[in-house]
Amino acid sequence: MESFIIEGRNNLEGIVEIGGSKNAALPIIASTVLCGREYIIENIPDIEDVRMMFEILDNMGCETQFENNIAIIDTRGLNSHVVSEKLVKKIRSSIILMGAVLHRTNSVEIAYPGGCEIGLRPIDLHLKGLKKLGVEIVEKKGILYGSVKNPLGCEIQLDYPSVGATENVMLFAVGLKGKTYIYNAAKEPEIFDLQNFLNTCGYKISGAGTSIIEIEGTELQNKDTVEYKIISDRIEAGTFLSAAASMKSKIYIRNIEKAHFNSITSLFEEAGCEIRESHGTVVVSSEGKLKAIEKVTTQPYPGFPTDMQAQFMASMSTAIGTTILDETVFESRYKHVPELQKMGADITTIGRVAVIEGVEKLHGAEVNAKDLRGGAALVIAAMKAEGITKVNDIYHINRGYDNFMNKLQNLGVIITSIEE
Ligand code: UD1
Repeated sequence: MESFIIEGRNNLEGIVEIGGSKNAALPIIASTVLCGREYIIENIPDIEDVRMMFEILDNMGCETQFENNIAIIDTRGLNSHVVSEKLVKKIRSSIILMGAVLHRTNSVEIAYPGGCEIGLRPIDLHLKGLKKLGVEIVEKKGILYGSVKNPLGCEIQLDYPSVGATENVMLFAVGLKGKTYIYNAAKEPEIFDLQNFLNTCGYKISGAGTSIIEIEGTELQNKDTVEYKIISDRIEAGTFLSAAASMKSKIYIRNIEKAHFNSITSLFEEAGCEIRESHGTVVVSSEGKLKAIEKVTTQPYPGFPTDMQAQFMASMSTAIGTTILDETVFESRYKHVPELQKMGADITTIGRVAVIEGVEKLHGAEVNAKDLRGGAALVIAAMKAEGITKVNDIYHINRGYDNFMNKLQNLGVIITSIEE
């Protein structure tokens, strides 16, 4: 078991460089199987989830090399339509391979990903979309068998703007005859990045970033090497902002598009933090004492992201007043609450609502990371707590943050990792 040991009462100061977006990298890596060719992709975060996605591709006959945040992927040798069950269980978002593999090989065999730490996470919208586009899907003993029967572009209305379902449908529809329209599509910047990547490959997609995406089926002729650079991670940027906001700090967040995380910066401004943008750098100054915000609701983009809910909660745990959080995206995303309580936080949850009474200070404790963002929240709480905190099971955190400990150390945080 690997843990972080964090000495509390830190002030954050310095510069942090934000890495590539996890949620943009994963679907873009998946989409390299659409067409057998070579891809050189920059700004890929060096995190467990990405490495597992490469392992899946290698397992299917592709060749991947990954160094210094640059991936060279050759998918010409893809020789299987079977996505390893063992690996799918490790990385739930590998379900986005479904559309891409179906497009390339006309069939797919992939394990049903099942629930995870943050909720049930059904994939009914993915399957409904693919079926409407002409895929026959049957499930036997937890394995989904898909085969392409009558493929044709069509209109797909998503009941909810699911990020994964939008991506899966995009990846299958790009090569179909006719046009596909996705209505009520997810609008996240990562969807826009996927569109950009696919258009760089030669496909024809427009509308990403709005709720209607138009895909004109295209049979690719040009198979030259594709070069691409992934956008930066708005949630990583939000996490550092969240840490700086609740301590006496001045940090410079570099390499991030501020427009991508406006819903996060505006909340922290409301809470009393000073945020300005200068030459592509977001400068955060805080006196360390935030004001509570009466009601915050997580929503699909451009609303406040569920992926920031835990970190925001850690920040507001020492704010002046009461903050009420409503988690509307996932049904059980409060596993960090009992851990924050061990550190002295006063938080009550009723279903999807959490009531956070700001306390004067937190204290160090031994706590357990239960999921990626909840783990980051514990690190934030530990940085401002009195005394020493041990955060266990940090593999959850390393799944999604590239070089987290070093970046924090550069900002002056006293943090080390130990293995037991
Ligand atoms: C993606 C992100 C994740 C983020 C989430 C919401 C990646 C790799 N992951 O996850 O970090 O927290 O978006 O912003 O990009 N749902 C259904 N049926 C479906 C699909 C989804 O009911 O077929 C529900 C989910 O259970 C959840 C909600 O819709 O309650 C949002 O899920 P979705 O947008 O699909 O999230 P993911 O793509 O899984």
